[in-house]
Amino acid sequence: MASSYYFYVLLFSLAVFLFLRSYAAKPLKPAGSTGIHLPIRKNNTSLQYYTTVEMGSGTGDQVNIVKTIANLIIDLRGQFLWLNCDKYNSKSYRPIRCGSTKCKAAKGSGCVADGFGEDVMSVYSTDGYSVIAKNKVSHFPFSCAASFLLEGLASGTNGMIGLARTQTSLPTQIAYAFKLPHPHKFALWIPSSNKSGLGDIFICDGPYYMLPTAKIVSESLTTTPLLINPGVDGTKLRTIAPYTTLHTSIYKALVSEFFKKAATKKMKRVMSVAPFGACFSSKTIASTKTGLAVPAIYLVLQKASVYWRIYGANSMVKVKKDVLCLGFVDGGSGSKPRTSIVVGGHQMENYLLEFDTGNYPKLGFSSSLLLLNASCSHFRIF
Ligand SMILES: *[C@@H]1O[C@H](CO)[C@@H](O)[C@H](O)[C@H]1NC(C)=O
Ligand SMILES: *[C@@H]1O[C@H](CO)[C@@H](O)[C@H](O)[C@H]1NC(C)=O
Ligand SMILES: *[C@@H]1O[C@H](CO)[C@@H](O)[C@H](O)[C@H]1NC(C)=O
Ligand SMILES: *[C@@H]1O[C@H](CO)[C@@H](O)[C@H](O)[C@H]1NC(C)=O
Repeated sequence: MASSYYFYVLLFSLAVFLFLRSYAAKPLKPAGSTGIHLPIRKNNTSLQYYTTVEMGSGTGDQVNIVKTIANLIIDLRGQFLWLNCDKYNSKSYRPIRCGSTKCKAAKGSGCVADGFGEDVMSVYSTDGYSVIAKNKVSHFPFSCAASFLLEGLASGTNGMIGLARTQTSLPTQIAYAFKLPHPHKFALWIPSSNKSGLGDIFICDGPYYMLPTAKIVSESLTTTPLLINPGVDGTKLRTIAPYTTLHTSIYKALVSEFFKKAATKKMKRVMSVAPFGACFSSKTIASTKTGLAVPAIYLVLQKASVYWRIYGANSMVKVKKDVLCLGFVDGGSGSKPRTSIVVGGHQMENYLLEFDTGNYPKLGFSSSLLLLNASCSHFRIF
């Protein structure tokens, strides 16, 4: 595994170099900015998380007028940005020709037919605290996709944006456009709702601030190594899945243990509501600041002392009046090997997740922000 891993890194670096060498990086403005911030919104019907960026530009007197507001579903594993271009009209759009060096460098990232191009993207700088000033990425690559691909996406959204470890993904493009010192680092604060503000994508190196009390530095996070394409089994994170899916054997063990612990807390079981298999009457469960007072779930990582602790706010889902279910889904036990645990959005809300996809890929995560009287819903424009 080690050798294929290094091979992958080598390939990746080379492609980035090819793709980006024709553009000089610009410094971020104002001086003192640590990186770029994008908001995260949640559509609480479709349970999808999306961000908003401004794409394109006019000409002459209208040169500063943004042409398209792109509301893009966030896909942690997506390789590039795609957008439905039916209403896209921008004077600064440039196609990337099939067969060109850039197209080759973007291999596997949508550059397979006409419809791959680049344009100005406007994003905002941050100091880890507030949103400061508009900055432009002059040549952000993206793919124009047909409108049928929008089926299944929350209404009001018009594409998807990828955060994967590719040269065309958002973190890579931003880091290289502004020559950020740690080009493989980004952090997510995924909100549970937008009622008191929006969540955050930080493409920067911290510290990260969350009012009223939270200041989080990378060094304070619990970390676990990220493996690149390790094959079968293992755990994945997936922002486009609303709930965590477990292989049947793990799911059954979890539910059975949860029932036992729930009984000691006198939680009353009720008929389950699909897709969930363990539901309770909310009248029999008390509330705490980390959500309902249910047994905590520990996702144990590389060793017993390294775990992700999941409280009621992230484990339970309200499915109807007075009924709450354990928000984990049975992923089946198919004969084909597959990922054993796929962590979904509900379980990632209100934690700081910092991804470092550099030479020693790792995930850093905080404890629940709810413990700090904070959440991932916040206003950052002052
Ligand atoms: C969804 O959001 C709307 C508007 O903010 C709010 O009124 C509603 O209660 C939310 N629904 C859920 C299930 O959180
Ligand atoms: C969320 O998505 C659903 C499904 O596409 C849509 O019906 C609803 O209007 C969206 N809500 C908002 C506030 O955009
Ligand atoms: C939150 O979502 C609702 C419905 O989706 C929307 O009307 C409202 O403007 C959003 N709030 C913020 C701060 O974006
Ligand atoms: C959170 O709020 C509670 C009650 O208001 C307080 O006792 C506690 O010290 C606060 N915790 C932090 C970390 O600020």
